[in-house]
Amino acid sequence: MIPDLSPSDKAKLAAAKQASLAIETGMRVGLGTGSTAAWLVKCLAARVREEGLAIKCVPTSTQTAELARGLGLDVITLDQAGTLDVTIDGADEFDAHLNLIKGGGAALLQEKIVATASAQMIVIADSDKEVATLGAFALPIEVIPFGLESTRKQVEEMLLAMEVEGRETSLRMKETAPLVTDEGNHILDLHLKRIGNAPQLAMTLNQIPGVVENGLFIDICDRVIIGSGDGKVET
Ligand code: 5RP
Repeated sequence: MIPDLSPSDKAKLAAAKQASLAIETGMRVGLGTGSTAAWLVKCLAARVREEGLAIKCVPTSTQTAELARGLGLDVITLDQAGTLDVTIDGADEFDAHLNLIKGGGAALLQEKIVATASAQMIVIADSDKEVATLGAFALPIEVIPFGLESTRKQVEEMLLAMEVEGRETSLRMKETAPLVTDEGNHILDLHLKRIGNAPQLAMTLNQIPGVVENGLFIDICDRVIIGSGDGKVET
């Protein structure tokens, strides 16, 4: 029994449930990270339990791996899987071109690696995540700890040179220390307000040596399933 859910959770569950129906026996499935992706893991686990769905899953974070294993899903590594049939993940923002900002849960690196190793990426979200222009959500970038302040300075100079609106950066913290990602790196959040040219920004950021990856997913997502609080979905 699922207890009374908030409208936001109902929307996430509706999107996750719909996406889970795209999964068939024999598929290798990438599992995203975050609260919406957690609903997907629960929906898939229910299908495995109740319908005998046989799938192999590649999680995008230790958090998702623990949840998936705990619910009895067959978890393998990306290298064991090779390529994946589909990855289903949440997003912090998506636009009309299905470009995304991801990384609110600090898992953007594994999420991008897994999504790009998949034949298809499906995003599940509630309608609040849909934007006309990306950038109101702070753009996360994963940076290596060595030379952090030097990398941060180079990022800020690059944003100035590109005349990006809003150039404040903040180091993501967990309690009193900088957050450490699953790959042992840190997250810089870029408060840009509005990203005029997302493909160009994504490419330029990754040219800075201390930047491992950025949270812009350009031309990676194939489909967005939007859930709403009344349990309906829209794709
Ligand atoms: C984690 C992510 C998440 O998919 C994103 O933050 C959305 O999370 P939620 O479903 O909890 O809103 O990119 O790195």
